[in-house]
Amino acid sequence: MPLVPMRVLLDHAAEHGYGVGAFNVNNMEQIQSIMQAAAETNSPVIVQASRGARSYSQDNYLRHLMLAAAELHPHLPIAMHQDHGNSPATCFSAIEQGFTSVMMDGSLLEDGKTPATYEQNVKVTREVVAKAHSLGVTVEAEIGCLGGIEDGHGAGLTGDAALAHLTDPAEAERFAAETGCDALAVAIGTSHGAYKFTKKPGGDVLKMDLIEEIHRRLPNTHLVMHGSSSVPQELVELINRYGGKMPETYGVPVEAIQRGIRHGVRKINVDTDNRLAITGAIRKVFAEHPEKFDPRDYLKPSRDAMAAVVRDRMIAFGQAGWGDKVPATTLDEMKARYR
Ligand code: G3H
Ligand code: 13P
Ligand code: ZN
Repeated sequence: MPLVPMRVLLDHAAEHGYGVGAFNVNNMEQIQSIMQAAAETNSPVIVQASRGARSYSQDNYLRHLMLAAAELHPHLPIAMHQDHGNSPATCFSAIEQGFTSVMMDGSLLEDGKTPATYEQNVKVTREVVAKAHSLGVTVEAEIGCLGGIEDGHGAGLTGDAALAHLTDPAEAERFAAETGCDALAVAIGTSHGAYKFTKKPGGDVLKMDLIEEIHRRLPNTHLVMHGSSSVPQELVELINRYGGKMPETYGVPVEAIQRGIRHGVRKINVDTDNRLAITGAIRKVFAEHPEKFDPRDYLKPSRDAMAAVVRDRMIAFGQAGWGDKVPATTLDEMKARYR
């Protein structure tokens, strides 16, 4: 089937009480890993590309790789999503490239670093919603700012400043009503990258109770958790065993995400865990077989390592088993529904 609007997947997930992992991609092997895991578990698929990913892979390559994924797996619904669009222009260019969903991250200004005002956020989000919905494309927005600046994206907030930018549930309620977004990313203490927490996070830093409060106020808006990598200790150890130098670090426990899924979280963004899996596998081949130089000798194990992580998440988030049950819905059908 053609790529589907993300809204269709999130509506189905809400109806049946599961979450859908949204996995970042930059190249063919990452797309293949996700599709391998999805095929094995019969899962609906959200593939997402950041601005950096689009520029690294080039839009045309990415578009054709995604079309290849859909062609090879016709029974699985696949949504292609722009991760952290920094401006309406970025979102519109993604739509032109065939993305079926966009994130207008108006929580930050176009520089991707400076926290925006509420009014600025509403303005850009509404602009994107108007155009995207007229084409049947899904819109994710963000209210509140994630902590950290790990991958160059983010306000670099820590400590009290990060706490001050957590999502305010009353503001989230108003924002969803004023923008008409399909999905809403909320800031609950997570950040992008591998260095989220210095010890196993408790409720003082990872505020799952905030998710529950937001869901109480917004029972019909799909919530999104960014920065949701779990940073498995075994992957950090694998990297370090084969020459890496990663300090002790902790991510978001899968059980916390599962609690979120019971309270309205429908999209869970995971990138870092896959990066760790890929790097660990490649380091292992390099260390154990320094004589090898065929890229396939290390890309194949790295592809399998990422597929294993994605498979685990698809099962843990509850999307496994639903792939062929999501009603096939086109952008045109969504367009009519928005009208
Ligand atoms: O937004 C965070 C994702 O991990 C994408 O990261 O901007 O380095 O591609 P990136
Ligand atoms: P992680 O860095 O925790 O994988 O988060 C990815 C993300 O939120 C992409 O938008
Ligand atoms: Zn994110």
